[in-house]
Amino acid sequence: MTPELLLAFDDEWALGRALADALRVPLQRIERHRFPDGELKLRLPPALPARVVLLRGLHQPNDKLVELLIAAPAARELGARELVLVCPYMAYMRQDIAFVPGEAVSQRHIAGLLARQVDALLTIDPHLHRIASLDEVMPGCRTRALTAARLLGEWVAERVPDALLIGPDEEALQWVGEAGRAHGLPHAVCHKQRFGDHDVRVVLPSLPGLAIAGRAVVLMDDVASTGRTLMEAARACLEAGAASVDVAVTHALFVGDALAQLRATGVRHVWSTDAVPHETAAVSVAPLIAAALRAL
Ligand code: R5P
Repeated sequence: MTPELLLAFDDEWALGRALADALRVPLQRIERHRFPDGELKLRLPPALPARVVLLRGLHQPNDKLVELLIAAPAARELGARELVLVCPYMAYMRQDIAFVPGEAVSQRHIAGLLARQVDALLTIDPHLHRIASLDEVMPGCRTRALTAARLLGEWVAERVPDALLIGPDEEALQWVGEAGRAHGLPHAVCHKQRFGDHDVRVVLPSLPGLAIAGRAVVLMDDVASTGRTLMEAARACLEAGAASVDVAVTHALFVGDALAQLRATGVRHVWSTDAVPHETAAVSVAPLIAAALRAL
């Protein structure tokens, strides 16, 4: 795809700017007005070219889903014939099964909803655990799920060359594996059990010939929300004698005081990508997204 215009909202302007520069396309703003009763009014540029990229990540998902449901059809009415959604963080991907009978499988429903709005969707490290590809839940929409694992791995390898990469749960194997193989770093994953939003237990991996004591551990995961997963993993590593514990995540949600609590466990550095705008963002996903858009 050769996009002609990138549309972005004010809160994602920094990534929008970097992406527009990488693509060498103009960047224009979608303006938002929130009415006193909570309704939303959006204003797009009045005449759009045929090939438009819309940047909208879904951190704070519920408000942003409504923005997308208004912005995408509005963009088509204003001239966009090919509309690609760049959604760096896709929310609702973790509920990929009915854990209890009657639970809605949000992943399928939200992904299906987005598939009906756009021609193609590009995202970073969506939480795909029980499905192999987004295509399974987004019929009729071209999808690209990119990973920031190599970029984060590169950042880590330059700063902590002797890092031991640890994923805080089994699902993180895809990210520590990719980063570890790309940059020659040893990796392993913990075993996690979640009993509630803030109640998580993490058991360290047993690593034949690879002790945690004295090692510079870097915990890698796709998303930090309450931060509990990382806190428990960090505590366990420090109790096991790790020389240092750093954290590298793709999506820094860090709700409430999660980041402060994580730091209070003794974690040294917290790094994330700019897929979600956050103070810990150290690695830009703009070049990754730009390359994927060109190849789409
Ligand atoms: C789930 O398996 C994800 O990969 C993350 O580990 C999890 O969502 C993190 O959530 P929290 O920060 O709330 O523990």
